[in-house]
Amino acid sequence: MSNIDDDIVSNVSANETLEEVAKARVSRRGVIVGGLAAVGGVSALLSSVPASASGPLLGFTGIAPSSLDEVVVPPGYTAKVLIAWGDPVSDGPAFNQDASNTAADQAKQWGMHNDGLVYFPIKGSRHGLIVQNHEYTDDVLLFTDGVAGWNEEKTNKSLNAHGVGIIEVKKDDGDGDCGFGMPGAGAGWQVVRPSRYARRITGQTPVAIGGPAAGDPRLMTSADPTGRLALGTLNNCAMGYTPWGTYLACEENFNGYFRKTGTPTELERRYGISAAGFGYLWHTTDTRFDANVEPNEPNRFGWVVEIDPFKPESTPVKRTALGRFKHEGAWVQEARDGRVVVYSGDDEIFEYIYRYVSNLPWRKAKKKKIDPLDDGILYVAKFNADGTGQWLPLTPANPALAGWTMNDILINTRGAADLAGATKMDRPEWIDTFPDQLVAIATLTNNSRRGTGTNPPVDAANPRSPNPYGQIIRWYYRADWTENTFGWDMFALAGDPAVPATGSTIVGDKYGSPDGIYVAPSGRLWIQTDVSGSTVNTGAYAGFGNNQMLCADPTTKETRRFLVGPNVCEVTGVFLTPDETTMFVGIQHPGEAPTGNNDPLLPKKHSSWPDGAEGGRPRSSLIIVTKDDGGVIGS
Ligand code: FEO
Ligand code: CA
Ligand code: CA
Repeated sequence: MSNIDDDIVSNVSANETLEEVAKARVSRRGVIVGGLAAVGGVSALLSSVPASASGPLLGFTGIAPSSLDEVVVPPGYTAKVLIAWGDPVSDGPAFNQDASNTAADQAKQWGMHNDGLVYFPIKGSRHGLIVQNHEYTDDVLLFTDGVAGWNEEKTNKSLNAHGVGIIEVKKDDGDGDCGFGMPGAGAGWQVVRPSRYARRITGQTPVAIGGPAAGDPRLMTSADPTGRLALGTLNNCAMGYTPWGTYLACEENFNGYFRKTGTPTELERRYGISAAGFGYLWHTTDTRFDANVEPNEPNRFGWVVEIDPFKPESTPVKRTALGRFKHEGAWVQEARDGRVVVYSGDDEIFEYIYRYVSNLPWRKAKKKKIDPLDDGILYVAKFNADGTGQWLPLTPANPALAGWTMNDILINTRGAADLAGATKMDRPEWIDTFPDQLVAIATLTNNSRRGTGTNPPVDAANPRSPNPYGQIIRWYYRADWTENTFGWDMFALAGDPAVPATGSTIVGDKYGSPDGIYVAPSGRLWIQTDVSGSTVNTGAYAGFGNNQMLCADPTTKETRRFLVGPNVCEVTGVFLTPDETTMFVGIQHPGEAPTGNNDPLLPKKHSSWPDGAEGGRPRSSLIIVTKDDGGVIGS
């Protein structure tokens, strides 16, 4: 069940490609975005508002690619593990290195394969909550004997290793005021145990279904005839957070947990529900995951889930107005008029980039007891060859969607986007914004099928065929984030800038398969990579080393390698404290089998990070990076 992000194709729609659009249309650039042409593009926008940091943004020494089974950071920086898979989130049981912890233990422990994360301050940059997704599991490493003799207990432990983790963290400066011990200890960041906020949300936690699609017959199951209360959240990849202090966990490759024998329906086909799934065995003990028995259960996944980390007793809510697809993340930007804009990529080859705009300014909506994420319009992106683009509304009023109800659109968002004529992208991953500049930025990780066989050809926004390295794209507005037209440009085509054949336009250190992207308050742009295990440091990626994180200056585009992860990991999830002196980074799936599955008899075959010789198996971990002089990360 490795490499579940890669090479799935569900979009065989015949909507026109960008090249066809470009040929057929009369140039209307001056009409559509007259103001955009005048401002001089994204670089001019970014340099027009100086970053809050003084001096050059990149102050560290870039590091070389690494194939070491450890985390490497620049001179003058330190990285250390804060919490790893299986560690208790509060006062729960300790991790057993032989993976013998029970399903009940796992429900109180850090989940497997941590991914997108957010730090919510309680006391500025020294005390807060961290919420992090647990995207998926390696069920061979999850148990002492792997998947042998699969049973209900194993299904439950695997479900409990998925979901979201919430921990309380404090920085011990050694001044004795944090409650960890005597003055002078100075142990740095610690997980607070016990904590009244600590929590695990798993694949079995009750999660309400909210928004327009709640109660739709297509969301009803034998266990929940109301269609309003699902169990769990799955495959939470990237994330988001709201101006009102909640966390958004996003359900990405949910389809792989379900099995459907026989001919799939059109809806099942479009979302990749299949007989083989991704190899998980849950369906053998839990009929929820057998789509022949519970055909509507898959419809209850593929949503964005809102969680209030400060209310440990609260029920998370699936926000259906944001649409149903393989949500990579959900990045919220408050518009200048107070409405909220939410960006989401659908991570699969030839899928789309989406935007949601709330109908009301969020404060006004809250006052009226309307959730800002329940009442708005969903759009999908069309990138034109001339550097302009449109947000195409996904509503019954769109003539392309004649006959579709709102719930038809929200439950089969992919099908609606096909008809609306969106641009098929090279696997949209993370998106973030430069809030002052009205600029958004998104990673398109790679697309091995672009331009091959009968697959869609290259277009301006996805210009390489095939595309093993991916690209980073930007778009921008004139006056506010809610405008339905935009201008766009390419931040970088990834690859090796020293090897022209790769087509790379990177200014600085080479990388490929960009996935995580994060705009720091100072304006530094952090880029994380997810080269699949089968490709790391071989073939097109020979010499690139292990997966990594880089820092870029968005104006000059200069890019330096800042961190390299251990063997066969993905570097995913990054967030800074408000003062930017502590960086939280996710190291996911160290030691995943590059091809096929791991071997329960040789759990450390591909990595023994982070526990080394004393440990029993590699563990996904949340790490902390600090600068030894206490300064801003990247400075
Ligand atoms: Fe889970 Fe698209 O990475
Ligand atoms: Ca990702
Ligand atoms: Ca990825």
